[in-house]
Amino acid sequence: MSITLEQLLTAATPLIELALAEDIGPGDATSQSTLDAASLLHGRIVAKAPGVIAGLPVAEAVFRAVDSALIFAAHVCDGQEVATGELVAEVSGPGPSLLAAERTALNFLQRMSGIASATRDFVDAVATTRAIILDTRKTLPGYRVLDKYAVSMGGAQNHRLSLFDMLMVKDNHTDGAGGITPAVARARAAYPTLPIEVEVRTLAELQEALAITPPLDRIMLDNMDLEMMRQAVALTAGRVPLEASGNVTLKTVTAIAQTGVDFISTGAITHSVIALDLSMKITKPAAAPALSWEERARRAKATLGNRLVILGHHYQRDDVIQFADFRGDSLKLARDGSRTNAEYIVFCGVHFMAEVAAILAKPGQHVYIPDRAAGCYLAETAGRAQVEQAWRDLDAALGGCADVEITPITYVNSDAALKAFCGKHGGSVCTSGNAAKVLAWAFAQRPRVFFFPDQHLGRNTALAMGIPAEEIILWTPHRPPSAETIHNAKVVLWPGACNVHQRFHPEDVVTVRERHPGIRVIVHPECDHSVVELADSVGSTTHIIQHVEAAPTGSAWAVGTETRLVRRLQQEHPEQLIVPLAERPPYCPTMGMVTLRKLTETLEALLAVDPPDEVTVEPETAKWARIALERMLDQS
Ligand code: 13P
Ligand code: SF4
Repeated sequence: MSITLEQLLTAATPLIELALAEDIGPGDATSQSTLDAASLLHGRIVAKAPGVIAGLPVAEAVFRAVDSALIFAAHVCDGQEVATGELVAEVSGPGPSLLAAERTALNFLQRMSGIASATRDFVDAVATTRAIILDTRKTLPGYRVLDKYAVSMGGAQNHRLSLFDMLMVKDNHTDGAGGITPAVARARAAYPTLPIEVEVRTLAELQEALAITPPLDRIMLDNMDLEMMRQAVALTAGRVPLEASGNVTLKTVTAIAQTGVDFISTGAITHSVIALDLSMKITKPAAAPALSWEERARRAKATLGNRLVILGHHYQRDDVIQFADFRGDSLKLARDGSRTNAEYIVFCGVHFMAEVAAILAKPGQHVYIPDRAAGCYLAETAGRAQVEQAWRDLDAALGGCADVEITPITYVNSDAALKAFCGKHGGSVCTSGNAAKVLAWAFAQRPRVFFFPDQHLGRNTALAMGIPAEEIILWTPHRPPSAETIHNAKVVLWPGACNVHQRFHPEDVVTVRERHPGIRVIVHPECDHSVVELADSVGSTTHIIQHVEAAPTGSAWAVGTETRLVRRLQQEHPEQLIVPLAERPPYCPTMGMVTLRKLTETLEALLAVDPPDEVTVEPETAKWARIALERMLDQS
């Protein structure tokens, strides 16, 4: 289940009334006495800490409930990550009303965003596994719907809403009914249409639960240690989905997920909420800057003329990408950057992309990124030292002959040091747009490929090339596969993954096809193979755009990639039905760190005496990384 906007607002309305009555009562004495009733004020809600926003519709409803003349404009969406200092929303209208509503609106927004932020931490901690995070009924009394909505905005799934919408047979029920089997029989007889989950504490109870027919909808492993959970996963062998519960914290959740369970439920995300720090800065409308950021960016760009080129990745915000001279996927942008003669290359994307532009830049060209902290989660899953250790282990397993037995290939979403590593060891870089060509080239050099950091791109490409699944193995850094396994493998995959594309699941494909019969599903190859094999088409961001653009009017698409690109496709192709593949489509938080304000400040700094910090790569690393990049560009 997931909470709709209508359900959210229906649940929030009486809570808002209660909260306003408690805070304002007969009136805001201070604002009413000090401010002129007709005075206008402008409020900017700003994040004072990084986190995930949830509850914007509730905050808006608070302002409206106080005064329908207040105008609320959100600058981000629920589910979107924000950085410290980022503008979340603006409100303007009658000053006394705005000040009276401020605290209550922020209280809702801060609490819900706190839940969404904590949830996102758990979701990220299990991103490289199949496990899905679930909430529980440990919510603030009366706030169940709001809390669960915030959980889903954090990227987790909602467990049952209440006691009436799912059967959950726990130890007390089992003891009362005389065992698991009779308890399930009685529950099913009374409520045959409700899904049923049974809690087990031992492997013997699990065996009993697994023997029940028809199979249960889910089995909860209650408070089991990791070893018992692993045994439970092996014993169940996928016959019934398993949910781990008990002692789930941010410290333990990754290890629990690695046991192979399907779901992990945790009360921590809702029972001990730490509100996200948001504040509202009030100004008089007249104090607003004379020129908007957009106007300032336009002026600076015009002044810099052809000394400047702006490159923008498809996942950038609309207000940023409008300034890009070249838009594209990472392959196209790598090429565009190297072809331009501009003195300043401003890269609106994530750090590894700017690094590639810096490596390929001509002498005299300087590369900048509006936010140097905009990294890539996937790239960070493979550190240089870890990959070098893996290479030594592979070398030992291959009889000291790694440099003739296995070609290292790095996805472009990686640190420059890893590209240099590939350059030195006869390997190459690839992007999502040319992975098959680069792998074909690699197999022409040596019999095996070591592919990092994205296991999904590697697996999806290798399978599409006809390499059997049993010849594709996953590297396990602390427990390397045996020499025999490595010898028999054609592809060794690094266990990295993108936390955005991992959020698509096969069930999303099933659901969207049920809702829109005949719809075509198109996904990015960073998605898990279970999603890719159900899709109609798979490819880079450019592949996705080209397919949608070439389709006839009236075509229907479910798109499995980052939300900003999906939204832009929807806006640019109103003649087609374009929907996000998942109900809660994922944002790439780091792509979103490049804002119009930061782009403007970068452009203005290029005109100032002290230019901004350049993106540079140490010369020796750049030399070898360039060799690996050139091998890639020669193949595509
Ligand atoms: P593309 O090369 O398809 O643009 O993908 C880059 C990326 O980071 C996808 O997550
Ligand atoms: Fe990295 Fe994934 Fe964001 Fe692409 S979408 S930049 S792979 S985190």
